[in-house]
Amino acid sequence: MAEFSGKRIVLGITGGVAAYKAAELVRLLGKAGATVDVAMTQAATHFVGAPTFQALSGRPVWTDLWDSRPNNGMAHIDLTRGADACLIAPASADFLAKLAHGFADDLLSTLCLARDCPLLAAPAMNRQMWENPATRRNVAQLRADGVTLLGPASGEQACGETGEGRMLEAAELFDELAAFLQPKRLKGRRVLLTAGPTFEALDPVRGITNSSSGRMGFALVRAFRDAGAEVTVVAGPTSQTTPRGVKRIDVVSAREMRDAVMAALPGQHVFVGVAAVADYRPVAAAEHKIKKSDAHLRLELEPNPDILAEVASRPDAPFCVGFAAESRNLAEYAEGKRAAKKLALVVGNLVQDGLGGDTNNVTLFDGKGAHPLPPGDKLAIARDIVAHITGMIDPCTV
Ligand code: C5P
Repeated sequence: MAEFSGKRIVLGITGGVAAYKAAELVRLLGKAGATVDVAMTQAATHFVGAPTFQALSGRPVWTDLWDSRPNNGMAHIDLTRGADACLIAPASADFLAKLAHGFADDLLSTLCLARDCPLLAAPAMNRQMWENPATRRNVAQLRADGVTLLGPASGEQACGETGEGRMLEAAELFDELAAFLQPKRLKGRRVLLTAGPTFEALDPVRGITNSSSGRMGFALVRAFRDAGAEVTVVAGPTSQTTPRGVKRIDVVSAREMRDAVMAALPGQHVFVGVAAVADYRPVAAAEHKIKKSDAHLRLELEPNPDILAEVASRPDAPFCVGFAAESRNLAEYAEGKRAAKKLALVVGNLVQDGLGGDTNNVTLFDGKGAHPLPPGDKLAIARDIVAHITGMIDPCTV
């Protein structure tokens, strides 16, 4: 199912050059299944015209309090009724000031005041405006009033200055909104994960690794974060970016991963081993680069610690989840692994085509049966896995 299926978002656009990013946001939300109702201030229409948003959303765009199109003349009331969220992006300094003081002198400010859904705002302004004590006061007031602020980011600004006040990019706003709309079933829970491959050095420039991209691990990191958990990830070498609010510990080898996990373990409620940990490492890494010769080269390998099994066998073990990537006999091997490593849950998948793709096809084995998840992208699957774990930890919450 698409990320925003069945969701209706009211997108408010105020006067700022970042309004062009809102056009891309409407497109992303629409592609993800959302219904988007756009409301613009007069100033916003000087930056991007209403027809652009009408074409991208496929819906009428609202700019005027006195619009006679709604039958009852009450666009300012009707628009947020039944909406899942109202996001103001870009939110200018002027509009934040109006929101903080409850002004209602145009359609957008009136509908914000009359809303019955959560309000989010993505500030966009010059750095001095953002740092101005008046804006600081308004932002503090808005936070106290329960408004969620997304960003701003720091960087180059349209005015040529550099500093804090840039609006987040469309893709970032999309992710933040998706995160915001997830139920916070794991609030107060701490989750530790491993992700990515490990790299076992042979010499200063070579080593043994595998094709794990870290995508499934980081999709789970995000899904746990979005569910309200406090998340720590111990990551092998991977280019995945860290979701905001998540603690990341970078490691290289399996032994470093093991040590980082053990150090982070106290107080964790859930441990998920997603990393494709190398089963073996060279007995000794050469101090200098191994030189080429015509002779055969023998590598002597020794087993690495099994991090997941070690965590799960502790007397104070958290709720432990493992992954089983198998090329055949999935159910038998996955259940066997669950029992052997004393895990609460194993996420099994058949890997005929190697690791590292965008999508995944998995079955959950929890000792009560096999639960195939609908195939989908890794984030959708991660959300389903988190929902299953949540149900097992606390059956009342699902
Ligand atoms: O035994 P196998 O490697 O198939 O088990 C896979 C599961 O165990 C994964 O969850 C993986 O993260 C974890 N694992 C580990 N340490 C190892 C090997 C695997 O934590 N040395």
